Amino acid sequence: MSHKRVAILISGGGSNMVSLVDSMAGDHPARPCLVLANDPEAGGLKKAAARGIPTASIDHRPFKGDRAAFEAELLKPLEAAGPDIVCLAGFMRVLTGDFVSRFQGRMLNIHPSLLPKYKGLNTHARAIEAGDAEHGCSVHEVTAALDDGPILGQARVQIDANDTPEALAARVLVCEHKLYPAVLRRYASGDRTPVLLP
Ligand code: GRF
Repeated sequence: MSHKRVAILISGGGSNMVSLVDSMAGDHPARPCLVLANDPEAGGLKKAAARGIPTASIDHRPFKGDRAAFEAELLKPLEAAGPDIVCLAGFMRVLTGDFVSRFQGRMLNIHPSLLPKYKGLNTHARAIEAGDAEHGCSVHEVTAALDDGPILGQARVQIDANDTPEALAARVLVCEHKLYPAVLRRYASGDRTPVLLP
């Protein structure tokens, strides 16, 4: 069986990338083909290299906000790797519609909220502030609109009394590490049925 090739974009420690990479084994229909970071110091790059996965990085800072120029460089190693699927995993740069359009329909992202609630940043603090009873994470297909696109999976956690954003984030991250691999496996097999945990 020829495996689907998966490129994973990261910005930092890459804990979601590690979960995805470690899940792509055995009878899984996909295999990682590249881990790409927007920061040469991203801790996830070493973790990927230790797993024998090709890595690359394009530092976004020299481009000083010229998104198109940064993305033109980012595309070089990404397209060279010939991915069938692109997974954004803790990738903290907003991508332009032009970049997204090259991968629309085969690019996923994980976001730490129960979308469509709390798009953007500081999701855990916002959920606590709002007095929500539950929070969680979502995997969605990436479209030009930020943290939008068809939902492919969600995992829910209870918000405890006196929960802090850090404690809640830690519990959500554990769910991310379960949800994203489950969604990728289903997605790589051509099934877009949402994964709902628990
Ligand atoms: C975490 O806040 C996670 O919720 C979000 O990206 C951040 C870093 O994730 N998806 P990772 O450890 O780099 O995967």
